[in-house]
Amino acid sequence: MEYNTLLQIAKDYGSPLYVYDAEKIKFQYKRLISAFGKVKQLKLNYAMKALSNISVLKLFNQLGTGLDTVSIQEVQLGLKAGFKPEQIIFTPNGVSLAEIEKAASFGVQINIDNLSVLEQFGTKHPETPVCIRINPHVMAGANTNISVGHIDSKFGISIHQIPHLLRIVENTKMNINGIHMHTGSDILDIDVFLYASEILFDTAKNFKNLEFIDFGSGFKVPYKLGDIETNIEELGEKLSIRFNEFCKDYGKPLTLAFEPGKFLVSEAGYFLTKVNVVKQTTSTVFAQVDSGFNHLIRPMLYGSQHEIINISNPNGRERFYSVVGYICETDTFANNRRINEITEDDILAFKNAGAYCYSMASNYNSRYRPAEVLWYDKKAHLIRKQETFDDILHNQIEIDL
Ligand SMILES: Cc1ncc(COP(=O)(O)O)c(C=O)c1O
Repeated sequence: MEYNTLLQIAKDYGSPLYVYDAEKIKFQYKRLISAFGKVKQLKLNYAMKALSNISVLKLFNQLGTGLDTVSIQEVQLGLKAGFKPEQIIFTPNGVSLAEIEKAASFGVQINIDNLSVLEQFGTKHPETPVCIRINPHVMAGANTNISVGHIDSKFGISIHQIPHLLRIVENTKMNINGIHMHTGSDILDIDVFLYASEILFDTAKNFKNLEFIDFGSGFKVPYKLGDIETNIEELGEKLSIRFNEFCKDYGKPLTLAFEPGKFLVSEAGYFLTKVNVVKQTTSTVFAQVDSGFNHLIRPMLYGSQHEIINISNPNGRERFYSVVGYICETDTFANNRRINEITEDDILAFKNAGAYCYSMASNYNSRYRPAEVLWYDKKAHLIRKQETFDDILHNQIEIDL
């Protein structure tokens, strides 16, 4: 988006503020569709954990994606946004059998990732089609917190447990209609992903009634200048060919499914903050903004680097700053970063703020969560108001002491 447009939106709606560019979301969606153009039946289930505002979900519904959900509340939000149950896949981890049964009662596709629940669910509901999440034990992803396919990971059913899995399926007579993996976020090496896919294909051969194979997600997007990204076009070309071959051997056309979050929304998002204070110490110049890790936790949680632009002075001379927040503990957004000269009241735009930013925001320090704006059809639409003091007290119970 143009910096002037962002600046105007910040003037109109205040700060801190999340802004999402619907055009960029559509662009990324079309890129994925065309990368896998050789596959006859392709299904993209948007991983709504990345950004779950109901208006954003409606945009995805309009585009024609399905939804990947991880909690019963996400399922309910998806239904409320207009998705049909059959467009939703429920891929939880570590939730109770009761939560899975509730999701199944809505008619969504169930994806189970542990043998204990598989056995219980299959015994009680053998007629409900179930997808199985496999752990191929392939290490993908740049950060251990977001790499989920390795041997020590809590996710998925280990490929070493396939004999046990098959016994459960046989004993319960349950119907396995899908097979799934998600090796982790930030795939750098396509060959590693293709290798994990071979493990999934091998596992798939054990099931006769499959309708789809879900390759999860983890497509990496650039966060800073010079950053590499998953070469989606190359992956699309290679995996499509291999998938079509597999379907021939399997004897029936299957659907190839993905569940991207970050790829679809990360670059569409901007987090706008205002500089409260420029503070010079003996060693550094801090730009302190009207936010903190309560609103954007990724730099503190994962060490992620969001490019920061001073949109109030985008052509000013560059100086070095540490950009920090107003939280009562260290909340560094960026260390020693080259940014165009900052003056108090300037607006800083954090890039790549679409995925796992608002959705991870909290009320820490009793601060309000910010407003969200969707830039759609060349107009700014407020899609969430900033919280108010009433929201902070909402659900709190004051007792007489
Ligand atoms: C099971 C599953 N699918 C999809 C995703 C989305 O991953 P990404 O945002 O990297 O595309 C995640 C992310 O945590 C996930 O756990």
